[in-house]
Amino acid sequence: MNAAVQLNASQFFESVNKWYATATVKNSPRIVIAEAAKDDFTYPKSRQILSEHPKVQALGNAGVAYVLAQSAYQYMYEIGLLETRFVIDCSLNIVNNVIAGASEQEKLNALTVVIDEGYHAHVALDYIIQMKNLTGIEPLEVPQTNGNLSAVHRAFAQLPEAVHSDFQLISVTLAEHTLTKDLISIGREKEASQAFTKVMTDHVSDEGRHASYFANLMTAHWARLPEDTKRVIGGMLPAYLDDYLAGDEARDFDRKVLLGCGFSASEADSIIADTQAQFLERLNDYVGTTKANLVKLLRRCGVLDHPPTREAFVQHGVAL
Ligand SMILES: [Fe+2]
Ligand SMILES: [Fe+2]
Repeated sequence: MNAAVQLNASQFFESVNKWYATATVKNSPRIVIAEAAKDDFTYPKSRQILSEHPKVQALGNAGVAYVLAQSAYQYMYEIGLLETRFVIDCSLNIVNNVIAGASEQEKLNALTVVIDEGYHAHVALDYIIQMKNLTGIEPLEVPQTNGNLSAVHRAFAQLPEAVHSDFQLISVTLAEHTLTKDLISIGREKEASQAFTKVMTDHVSDEGRHASYFANLMTAHWARLPEDTKRVIGGMLPAYLDDYLAGDEARDFDRKVLLGCGFSASEADSIIADTQAQFLERLNDYVGTTKANLVKLLRRCGVLDHPPTREAFVQHGVAL
């Protein structure tokens, strides 16, 4: 056995042992929302601008708690969707060669992602059920999709079926990178409840491992893609990034939350209008920072070394 193979084997054992030692599914106790914490504001106020509006504040603690509970439900449901409909599906496609070319070691790591993500979805739904039982606040809706999933479906509709699985790997790599950064940032918010923060910090402790796993796999996968596939995927990636990161500027969810608080349609519209400028400013900041991070990731993975893809980004107005 040569030195290079030995090194790979020891790196492999290190990654297996690291998963056994650090994966939250194997090492973290259940996150229980304490009875005494049932009236705490669960979701950080700084992430839900409606909670700071005087008319919402005038509803008292119960009104603000209702608004924040709806945001927490939405956040947790979206995590569940992302894990169960997107990341797990992609990881199983790696295991089963639908996304071709992974080694057995990479497949074993894909299985750890399946297990971790199944657990993250479990923790999120457990949190929702506990909150419903403790607070009596029912979620306004159970979302069936989110911005990321919808953008992937639109991309699939544009791309030839033969490249869907290659595109899935790229879109999941981008999503895992974004999610890791988002969870770090929301886990640092000071105003969220202890249980909510624990869900975020536990989750991110697994996601760092996933983000680097997918980035490494995507680097190798991109390098082995045929030129035609690189051209077709690379040509639509710049528009995909914009579509995937676009926020809900119409704020349909916020409007539903305000109606759920008991405001009339015209009161809801005026609260939306009062907060719109600040909402858009925060959204645009987030989109700008996230897009810059994702372009950096694509560069690191070698995607921008492909001249036609690089040109597509330049044509799209991305400064490289
Ligand atoms: Fe996850
Ligand atoms: Fe993940």
